[in-house]
Amino acid sequence: MSRTVIVLAAGEGKRMKSALPKVLHPLLGRTLLGHVLAATAPLAAARTLVVVGNGAEQVRAHLAATAPQAEPVLQERQHGTGHAVRISLPADVEGTVVVLNGDLPLLRPETLTALVAAHEGAGRAATLLTAEVADPTGLGRIVTGPAGLERIVEERDASAEERRRRLINAGAYAFDAGLLRDALAKLSTDNDQGEEYLTDVVGLLVAAGQPVGTHRTDDPDEALGVNDRVQLAQLRALLRDRINEDWMRAGVSIVDPATVWIDVTVTLERDVVVEPNTQLRGATTVGEGALVGPDTTLTDVAVGPRAAVVRAHGSASRIGAGASVGPYAYLRPGTVLGEAGKIGTFVETKNAQIGAGTKVPHLSYVGDATIGEYTNIGAATVFVNYDGVAKHHTVIGSHARTGADNMFVAPVEVGDGVYTGAGTVVRRNVPPGALAVSGAPQRNIEGWVERRRPGTPAAQAAARARDAAAAAGTDPAAGGGGAAGGGEAADQPQPGDTASE
Ligand code: UD1
Ligand code: MG
Repeated sequence: MSRTVIVLAAGEGKRMKSALPKVLHPLLGRTLLGHVLAATAPLAAARTLVVVGNGAEQVRAHLAATAPQAEPVLQERQHGTGHAVRISLPADVEGTVVVLNGDLPLLRPETLTALVAAHEGAGRAATLLTAEVADPTGLGRIVTGPAGLERIVEERDASAEERRRRLINAGAYAFDAGLLRDALAKLSTDNDQGEEYLTDVVGLLVAAGQPVGTHRTDDPDEALGVNDRVQLAQLRALLRDRINEDWMRAGVSIVDPATVWIDVTVTLERDVVVEPNTQLRGATTVGEGALVGPDTTLTDVAVGPRAAVVRAHGSASRIGAGASVGPYAYLRPGTVLGEAGKIGTFVETKNAQIGAGTKVPHLSYVGDATIGEYTNIGAATVFVNYDGVAKHHTVIGSHARTGADNMFVAPVEVGDGVYTGAGTVVRRNVPPGALAVSGAPQRNIEGWVERRRPGTPAAQAAARARDAAAAAGTDPAAGGGGAAGGGEAADQPQPGDTASE
């Protein structure tokens, strides 16, 4: 049976009070409209039409980017759901027409498939999705009589008795195309809103003696629409619970499901542990046995198996198997961390390939860089990638050990096995195996503080230390292991020059 899908997305969504059309509001990985379109995927419809109106340009752009098979149809003025279907239903379409409200994001693909199967199996003129809800306020009620289903009545047109009914019209329908077309031609606007109601098609078909049925979902949440941001937040929480439960049943540990928000587009493998306050977004994937969180937000990040990502914020990055990230790390787009590598605490990375086993443990910025394998980058290192006009790249080899507080002024290349001293500003390439040091050798100017800052607490402390040393017969100026002069000492990295592991 040929199938056509029509999604109604022209409404204004006044109560959202938003510059964004209602159907484009995001909900855990897709827009409201995106969720509805995703639910229709298993129907394998020949055509999918989306009625656009309010914010039509934005909705069209969204469709072009995310659902190019969907065909937008402009409904210039919103004369009601019946009008929307009437103007969008192609004249030559036969078979089954599935109509969906665009603000029905929790509808499951299985439910829609079952609805359509029931409809086609029974050869009906129409089948509509119903649900028994606790609070039917604002929804169309299902009116039944002695012979069964009679019609749908909108709340504002309903009698007091009808309003007490809790069986509602969810806003998802399957129709026979020809009978739908005939009925749409007969719609009136004789109702409280003066609109053409799609729901009136049901009463018209019943009155004409056509077979019309219902398909009831056992999960009333599926019928929840979004009219304002309070409902949007409620639906988001419901969807979060649904997603988290699915993952937990699939072998993922979610320590505090109330604070973990996983987009529908994310995939997790077995024995992943998700700690509290964690958001996994977009095309993020997490490999077997990895730990993510607490307090972590990852968007489009691939986390390898057994990696640990703790208190981190990352996007468009890859983290290798067994690698370690955080606590307190910021991975910007283009970060690729190799197997068993480390991006540690207060480290920011961007467009940085960091090889297997390489560590950037503390207080550093790595931007526009390629670092080989098993290299250790000293604490407080900055990859100086920007000259004020253009960005430049730094290359560091494998098994290098760079000192603390280094600056790599790009473009620059540092070979394999290089050491650099603490505080080195690397402006020129360093050949493999060399030690790079920069800056003048340290000079100690004896007595400077007492001469130039007399009377200060520092001068007083210096005087006390001098007197104590004189009394003990030692020379305070001779203490310490730092290189006082140049020469040989500058060729030796001093203890502590290369950063900790
Ligand atoms: C509709 C149903 C109601 C049902 C409820 C479920 C009708 C008349 N009523 O009411 O029985 O219980 O959904 O949530 O259908 N739209 C257009 N063009 C228009 C008008 C609406 O595209 O001219 C779109 C809206 O963008 C929306 C959908 O159709 O996505 C439903 O419209 P809405 O105004 O939300 O209808 P409800 O009052 O919720
Ligand atoms: Mg609605």
